[in-house]
Amino acid sequence: MSNDTLTITDNRTGETYEVPISDETIRAMDLRQIKVQQDDFGMMTYDPGFANTASCKSRITFIDGEKGILEYRGYPIEQLAEQSSFLEVAYLVIFGELPTPDQLAHWEQRIMRHTYIHENLTHMLKTFRYDAHPMGILVSAIASMSTLHPESKQVHDQDIRLKQIYRILGKLPTVAAFAYRHRIGRPYNYPNSTLGYTGNFLYMLDYMGQSNYEVNPVLAHALDVLFILDADHEQNCSASAMRGVGSSEADPYSSMAGAAAALYGPLHGGANEAVLRMLGEIGSVSNIPAYIERVKNREVRLMGFGHRVYKNYDPRARIIKKIAYDVFEATEINPLIDIALELERIALSDDYFISHKLYPNVDFYSGIIYQAMGFPVDMFPVLFALGRAPGWLAQWVEMLDDPEQRIARPRQIYLGERGRQYIPVDQR
Ligand code: CMC
Repeated sequence: MSNDTLTITDNRTGETYEVPISDETIRAMDLRQIKVQQDDFGMMTYDPGFANTASCKSRITFIDGEKGILEYRGYPIEQLAEQSSFLEVAYLVIFGELPTPDQLAHWEQRIMRHTYIHENLTHMLKTFRYDAHPMGILVSAIASMSTLHPESKQVHDQDIRLKQIYRILGKLPTVAAFAYRHRIGRPYNYPNSTLGYTGNFLYMLDYMGQSNYEVNPVLAHALDVLFILDADHEQNCSASAMRGVGSSEADPYSSMAGAAAALYGPLHGGANEAVLRMLGEIGSVSNIPAYIERVKNREVRLMGFGHRVYKNYDPRARIIKKIAYDVFEATEINPLIDIALELERIALSDDYFISHKLYPNVDFYSGIIYQAMGFPVDMFPVLFALGRAPGWLAQWVEMLDDPEQRIARPRQIYLGERGRQYIPVDQR
């Protein structure tokens, strides 16, 4: 008997089954043979939130949550944040290798050639209400882009697929910047591809006709690093949404609208916005102990703390904390940093947080940096989406090229009524 198997005894029947183990995993379908009666459906697994279910095999991002390790395609996040650029990391995440100088130049040039958006989309953005949440605008804009690029439905055509990747990475900052300008009632700035990826983004956000306008290099670099930290995070809620929608062979814009919508929620990419609101609500260092008590009484959650995978420090949070001070030198210090640092200090020495393995995650500091850079809080998840876009695309490409993948379609345990007889409304 091979050792790489799991022997299961069904105590209902006394039957024993042997199922293969590979990569420390058994296939859920191997449990289906476990039945009491021949015509039973067969054994399933129940896993709300997919806490212990692998839905794919992936070669993109490695996380060791116990040790606090994050690697994209095998490269540690610390090295990429320190030495690489966002577009290079996007190439790495999507194609699996670091680009040669020629590949990188071509990649950057192709993406920066696709920064202009269709004028119809610009008009559509103008129709949103003045106070529309920019994330709602972004989700709608991404979905609407499928109508402007209908050939994108040919998801198995490699050239068409690559073209959409250039378009998405090129156009997302433009949509995000227009959503922001719309929110503050300022005219849109059309892209300037000579300024680099994050430089152009800052320009579209800020430019107001100054003759001496220059992109602040410290802020452009900080944004680039923040985008690198967000670039992928394996099978998180939005990546799963991208794969889930994409598994029906929907075009990448529709799939990415689904992913961006998943990111919008406060338990995922909306968390950095929620952290800022929480720090504002706490208001001062002296109010922290009372707030911690409320967390321990389960009245509120400490936003920016905890993670499904990291049960040690989130390595991205460590890098982000350093960037905060670079940004504060270029802007001015965000007074919320004092509340955040003290909150972190108290939480990390408190039994509740230690026993629950709750540490600051990437969102704990990113919002403070974004606020210091002048972004309104409702832009935070939009910034997260720009950073995460390469990861969504990489997950989507990997899913489409994986012969084992099928349309995402979980099972359920049905607990509802059966076989009821319809009663006409006048007799109820
Ligand atoms: N504050 C207080 N208690 C918490 C927190 C928190 N932030 N997070 C988890 N817990 C407790 C929770 O009450 C539970 O306690 P018990 O076992 O005694 O009932 C235990 O820890 C496990 O919590 P869970 O909700 O089962 O954990 P999860 O893996 O399902 O949730 C999470 C992960 C990130 C949604 C959660 O930690 C959370 O809500 N954090 C706050 C929101 C946040 O910062 N999200 C950003 C995540 S990182 C960026 C991203 O991926 O988008």
